[in-house]
Amino acid sequence: ESTLGAAAAQSGRYFGVAIAANRLSDSTYATIAAREFNSVTAENEMKIDATQPQRGQFNFTAADRVYNWAVQNGKEVRGHTLAWHSQQPGWMQSLSGNALRQAMIDHINGVMSHYKGKIAQWDVVNEAFADGSSGARRDSNLQRTGNDWIEVAFRTARAADPSAKLCYNDYNVENWTWAKTQAMYNMVRDFKQRGVPIDCVGFQSHFNSGSPYNSNFRTTLQNFAALGVDVAVTELDIQGASPTTYANVVNDCLAVSRCLGVTVWGVRDSDSWRAGDTPLLFNNDGSKKPAYTAVLNAL
Ligand code: XIL
Repeated sequence: ESTLGAAAAQSGRYFGVAIAANRLSDSTYATIAAREFNSVTAENEMKIDATQPQRGQFNFTAADRVYNWAVQNGKEVRGHTLAWHSQQPGWMQSLSGNALRQAMIDHINGVMSHYKGKIAQWDVVNEAFADGSSGARRDSNLQRTGNDWIEVAFRTARAADPSAKLCYNDYNVENWTWAKTQAMYNMVRDFKQRGVPIDCVGFQSHFNSGSPYNSNFRTTLQNFAALGVDVAVTELDIQGASPTTYANVVNDCLAVSRCLGVTVWGVRDSDSWRAGDTPLLFNNDGSKKPAYTAVLNAL
């Protein structure tokens, strides 16, 4: 196959990309994105601050630019993200307790009803665990509403759009030996045992020297899949874009039948949130990097 998306589709998977609405007018960017990928995640446009800037006033202008571009170009859409400590609008940052809990529920209902039946996977909850060795939840205003905030978010999401796969998404959870990975695993196991609706786990996979790729990522994906959830690589970028590491990640996903696909977090290095790391598959001029070829050959 000659594109990443078509190559991934040979095994029933997707190869996706994070899209920024304000870059779609850049023809080099839009041409590559339309050609190479068959899944799209909005890099920022479906986040809480973008979709509900004032309480009760939803705004889907930017989100729909990404969504409509994706659908018009034949791609499926991953929704990102509904409940998160970061990129909250000011009004939400200032809430706590029952008012914040209700605002979270209202937000999930508002966004998911707008896209009802249209989103393949939703990242319902993002980044709820702490880094380091504690295995604890991350302290946040949402966590302080009560430890059950995550399951409430998932139950709300299931009722709002039963057709979407509901994912928990996090970073620094790719290495099986890390406490954060084990904490996330225990939560998913508990949810499955108690019937909390969760369908998938997203591994962001922002690899760099502080949190490098480890070959036990495949074990991690296999162990989560064995709990009865799908898995996905949701925000892949690799500091320095080692072709070998990119191929390893793709091969890890391909080795796990419940791995739905891989999404890279941007098109060209210059589009990356970590542009200085040159972590992506395309050069700034739109040409393919060695990592691109490694990924295509692995798929
Ligand atoms: C990042 C975006 O790429 C940036 O443009 C933005 O300024 C901050 O957020 N984990 C996530 C993503 O789940 O939403 C983040 O995206 C990167 C880390």
